[in-house]
Amino acid sequence: MTQDAPALPGKPVSASRVTLAQLMQPQHASYLGFVHGGEIMRLIDEVGALACMRHAGRYVVTVAVDQIHFNEPIRIGNLVLLTAEVSYVGRTSMEVEVQVVAENPLTGERRHTNTAYLVYVALDEEGRPTPVPPLLLENEHQRRRFQEAQERRAVRLARRRQRRVTPLHGDPEGGDG
Ligand SMILES: CC(C)(COP(=O)(O)OP(=O)(O)OC[C@H]1O[C@@H](n2cnc3c(N)ncnc32)[C@H](O)[C@@H]1OP(=O)(O)O)[C@@H](O)C(=O)NCCC(=O)NCCS
Repeated sequence: MTQDAPALPGKPVSASRVTLAQLMQPQHASYLGFVHGGEIMRLIDEVGALACMRHAGRYVVTVAVDQIHFNEPIRIGNLVLLTAEVSYVGRTSMEVEVQVVAENPLTGERRHTNTAYLVYVALDEEGRPTPVPPLLLENEHQRRRFQEAQERRAVRLARRRQRRVTPLHGDPEGGDG
């Protein structure tokens, strides 16, 4: 007979909140002169992972990134502010919401350019998924977002079950089923 591990104490959403600020410089530009989308995606993944590490007290890996829409370009010279907080936890996985804001540091004008949802899994010392603390919801906004996250999780897991990996130039029957 195996003994259940003791339940982890819950942690509030606010304890996971992280903000990263990065000045967009010429090395972050695409050939069109605006900020490269890949740079923003890298920062989104970084701040999301930090929020999950704070919640789990563990290193984490990214397992899913929901659609990211770029509604407006971000300019070189803008300060990009990325704020992440854990929005949902399962047993070993966590969903994080990342808000991206571009600020003109000369005028203080701010534009909300993206919201992204990502999923991370906490790993133990052997690199296996390991349980994370329950999430303590602190207000109505967080409770509503948690419920919406349950719906997003159901969609992701249904897609995961249906997914077939087909090589670009290989056997179309190949894949992970
Ligand atoms: C993270 C990893 C160890 C999990 O292994 P696994 O065999 O999928 O483990 P499980 O099936 O037990 O899933 C673990 C959790 O992740 C969730 N999960 C796994 N794949 C998921 C996906 N595509 N979307 C959403 N959640 C997912 C499961 O629902 C489960 O959550 P829960 O414990 O909260 O219920 C494995 O998927 C992995 O190593 N992935 C690569 C991670 C990586 O390298 N990321 C960087 C990409 S470049």
